[in-house]
Amino acid sequence: MSADSELLLEVEHLTVDFPTDDGVVHATRDISYTLSRGDVLGVVGESGSGKSVSSLAVMGLLPPTARVSGSAKFCGQELLGSHGAVKSLRGNKLAMIFQDPMTALNPVYTVGVQLREALRVHNREMPKREMTERSIDALELVGIPNPKDGLDSFPHEFSGGMRQRAMIAMAMINDPDILIADEPTTALDVTVQAQILETLERVQARTGAAIILITHDLGVIAGMAQRVLVMYGGAVVESGSVDDIFYRTSMPYTAGLLGSMPGIHAHGSRLRPIPGSPPSLIRMPPGCSFGPRCPMVTDACRLDAPGKFSLVGTQTHASACIRRDEVLAMDDARTMFAATHDTEVVRD
Ligand SMILES: Nc1ncnc2c1ncn2[C@@H]1O[C@H](COP(=O)(O)OP(=O)(O)OP(=O)(O)O)[C@@H](O)[C@H]1O
Ligand SMILES: [Mg+2]
Repeated sequence: MSADSELLLEVEHLTVDFPTDDGVVHATRDISYTLSRGDVLGVVGESGSGKSVSSLAVMGLLPPTARVSGSAKFCGQELLGSHGAVKSLRGNKLAMIFQDPMTALNPVYTVGVQLREALRVHNREMPKREMTERSIDALELVGIPNPKDGLDSFPHEFSGGMRQRAMIAMAMINDPDILIADEPTTALDVTVQAQILETLERVQARTGAAIILITHDLGVIAGMAQRVLVMYGGAVVESGSVDDIFYRTSMPYTAGLLGSMPGIHAHGSRLRPIPGSPPSLIRMPPGCSFGPRCPMVTDACRLDAPGKFSLVGTQTHASACIRRDEVLAMDDARTMFAATHDTEVVRD
């Protein structure tokens, strides 16, 4: 974030509960972050940690059963609640892309028709010729070859990667200030993943949009984001720059994620998934929610007290661990998991 950067999004104490027959699912708890123009914010965590729910809340796309509290302001305007400004901003100033392009692309219309419709919703007076020009520009921006012909294609005529590009084009067509990309590459093979990330980078550089990049993959985060939110059990458990997260880890869960990341180990090394499974979001364990899986857990970690497991640290690097100073002092925090493994998963 540069000093003159414009604050676009300010999320404070965002909390989402889903009442269900089994009890209340506490999907996200007390999430706060800011996003400025040009930022790429990575959001990482295991499945079910609340990454999608926290973004869908900001976009006003949660089902009506969701109970949402806290605040999310876009350029000072409140997005949450029935009076929130989100409806008029969605698809215009705020755009989102998903893992599966077919959720956003309609199979029965050409890509051109869908791009025009996305434009028309927010620009009712725009002449057709200008719409066509803007659509071609959007396809060009995302690297679709022969963008003019692309307009006449149906989504099924595109490969998975091209469909994902078309979806990014659709999200970008109204020149949004914020693009939320929810696992945009998970369904694609590795080569295509890299191309889609390059596309996102190009889109970001050309338009200056801020991006929230949601992913399981810390490798993706390292390549693109400047700042990272690490989520566990619905809460942010560490936030910092990419370097803070990778080299000044201050939370055992983050260390576990780093240790389970392919590709950053020494030659011949092993991939170590974090033992155990994520907490129930209906009945959270007392104390630190990562405690039951943490190699550094102590009795103090199992006892709750108000604010004890909230984020502590500096404005730019904080974590929700009462032993954060010890974790920070480690040469390689990933090694704390080594002793807890009887069996190791060898990656080919
Ligand atoms: N409509 C809903 N009703 C009840 N619970 C829900 C609903 N939507 C999401 N949840 C729960 O909220 C929690 C957080 O879900 P979320 O989709 O945000 O996880 P995630 O981090 O995006 O996971 P993934 O990596 O698998 O996409 C999960 O336990 C999920 O089951
Ligand atoms: Mg998700």
